[in-house]
Amino acid sequence: MSAFTGNHILSVSQFDREQLEQIFAVADQMVPYAKREKVTRVLEGAILNNLFFEASTRTRLSFGSAFNLLGGEVRETTGLKSSALAKGESLYDTARVISGYADIIVMRHPMEGSVAEFAKASRVPVLNGGDGSNEHPSQALLDLFTMRKELARFDRDLDEVKVAMIGDLAHGRTVHSLSRLLALYKKVSFTFVAPKELGMPIEIVEYLIEKGHEVTETQSLEQGIADVDIVYQTRIQEERFSSQEVANQYRGAYRINQYVYSQFCQPSTVIMHPLPRDSRAEANELDTDLNENPNLAIFRQTDNGVLVRMALFALILGVEEKVAEYARPVNWYIGKRF
Ligand code: NCD
Repeated sequence: MSAFTGNHILSVSQFDREQLEQIFAVADQMVPYAKREKVTRVLEGAILNNLFFEASTRTRLSFGSAFNLLGGEVRETTGLKSSALAKGESLYDTARVISGYADIIVMRHPMEGSVAEFAKASRVPVLNGGDGSNEHPSQALLDLFTMRKELARFDRDLDEVKVAMIGDLAHGRTVHSLSRLLALYKKVSFTFVAPKELGMPIEIVEYLIEKGHEVTETQSLEQGIADVDIVYQTRIQEERFSSQEVANQYRGAYRINQYVYSQFCQPSTVIMHPLPRDSRAEANELDTDLNENPNLAIFRQTDNGVLVRMALFALILGVEEKVAEYARPVNWYIGKRF
């Protein structure tokens, strides 16, 4: 049992550094299971309900896969229109009902604060899979876990790290959660590159400064990505704009390709993105010509997401010490996935 057992994961503000280390240590132990070298049945009989009331590919599937990899079963509902919320049911009622069907719930919803409201009425732990523009805690955890690993290749850690976040920082819940988590480290240098109207919310900037970090805001990509350890690119969150036309004004404002990288970044700068990257010609925020760049970490992020989500389930359901006890060898061909 740990401090996580039985608890919700709603916001990154609930974590301290020690807890982060604990999550990352459990995530590291999940590698043989995610790599399919071993199978564990530690959550055999347990049920996860995935409630995704907003578009998702990797968050929904990686939470589901993580639960399956621990031996549990997954039930899901996707889309607001196909759920009873479209019939006027309250979050309270939905939570009371669904929490009778599952041992744990992951929920994504377009309204800020909705997952926390749902969690209040839930009888089982709830994980926030993204609530509007507000927070995306599991993404921030996997991003931080990835940063740690990437920096370790250069004998560096997160204290005094220099990070540039680019794009729609006003609506991007990933950058909101990630900035707050990074603030737990020592003297982080943040550079926020965004169009004037899409800057990082003032309350987050003030929070980072109050915690003793350095914050630079700029509209210049070239200036922002020079001399940083990590470039964290993001997508224009078109679903949060009043119309596609308004979103179109910002699409393609900041494009990173191999030429831009070699021209302006340090040779060791790590490139990250929560994905999906918008690869349409009018956006192309992270060009596919970066795919062979060894510092492009985007697919390591998605692989790490499974490890971190497995760790969260194991810790919340109190089985983190028992995973190996329920392990057995794999019988099938495991391919060249890793
Ligand atoms: C992000 C999200 O949903 O906030 N995606 C994800 O979960 N990896 C980022 C985005 O959609 O741009």
